[in-house]
Amino acid sequence: MEKKNIDWSNLGFGYQVTDKRFVSNYKNGAWDDGVLTEDATITMTECAGVLQYAQTCFEGLKAYTTEDGRTVCFRPDLNASRMKDSCIRLRMPVFPEDRFVEAVKQVVRANEAYVPPYGSGATLYIRPYMFGSSAVIGVKPAEEYQFRMFTTPVGPYFKGGAKPITIRVCDYDRAAPNGTGHIKAGLNYAMSLYQIVEAHDLGYDENMYLDAATRTYVEETGGANFIFITKDGKLVTPKSDSILPSITRRSLMEVAEKYLGMQVEHREVRLDELQDFAECGLCGTAAVISPVGKVVDHGKEICFPSGMEEMGPVTKKLYDTLTGIQMGRIEAPEGWIVEI
Ligand code: PLP
Ligand code: COI
Repeated sequence: MEKKNIDWSNLGFGYQVTDKRFVSNYKNGAWDDGVLTEDATITMTECAGVLQYAQTCFEGLKAYTTEDGRTVCFRPDLNASRMKDSCIRLRMPVFPEDRFVEAVKQVVRANEAYVPPYGSGATLYIRPYMFGSSAVIGVKPAEEYQFRMFTTPVGPYFKGGAKPITIRVCDYDRAAPNGTGHIKAGLNYAMSLYQIVEAHDLGYDENMYLDAATRTYVEETGGANFIFITKDGKLVTPKSDSILPSITRRSLMEVAEKYLGMQVEHREVRLDELQDFAECGLCGTAAVISPVGKVVDHGKEICFPSGMEEMGPVTKKLYDTLTGIQMGRIEAPEGWIVEI
């Protein structure tokens, strides 16, 4: 397969159109067979559920070229299952999980020329999403839906790649108790835009959200979960019903325990504990693991001992092991790597 002539090593996290995308429509209570299409545009009624009441959810996963030249995906079954949870919460029809994984394979195969080569630092980002496409004007679920999946080659989510970032404690909330923080609803991201622009304007890379009820516990950022490393080398990661159950975070918990022999704590993390940690990072499909060097809480700086120059040593080990598994350098647990 001849690859496209793209400057892979200088890609940022942006959209560029690729050759084919998968589309399936839900009508009269059933999904159609779905097709791969070259048409990257969507036409729908002005009154579509997604346009009026934001009835939409999405997923994100990546395809990689392994060291020995295979094209693989990382745990697509977990994206399928999380999308099912999102759909149920948003009163949308579930796209069958086996068909979701099959569509991932089809769409990556159809865009194989855009899967970045091994060692380039880039990957092919896959974006599955679903939206209410029929007209609704009273507040209720749509009757018709479209499920789509496109791909786009991407580089690091944060400029500077592995350079530690600075984040601020945010006064706006991301998710309410008993709300939608645990699913990947488009609305969670729409309501984060005001404060992400504000954070960037003030020179911060991201927002740290706290629990909305008490503003005592650390939740997550707008697009990634937190990991912390204690001074005695434990992995600590926040537990809350209103954060997105990150597939990267769940994988790292297993990697830490089984590959690196670390102790892992999945528990509530208080904001006032941050100063005791040795290292901090953000983890997610887009973020991979992005080290955090500093958290600013209303003028008070919490600087992690790992500093602002490079990833802390334990975070680096986690990063190397996870990406080693994804790129085929390290043997993966059963079922984690799906060949295209
Ligand atoms: N948290 C939020 C709010 C996200 O949008 C994402 C991205 O999907 C994550 C965490 C990380 O999840 P995952 O590791 O499954 O990509
Ligand atoms: C992902 O990591 O796949 C996401 O969806 C996060 C998003 C903020 C880009």
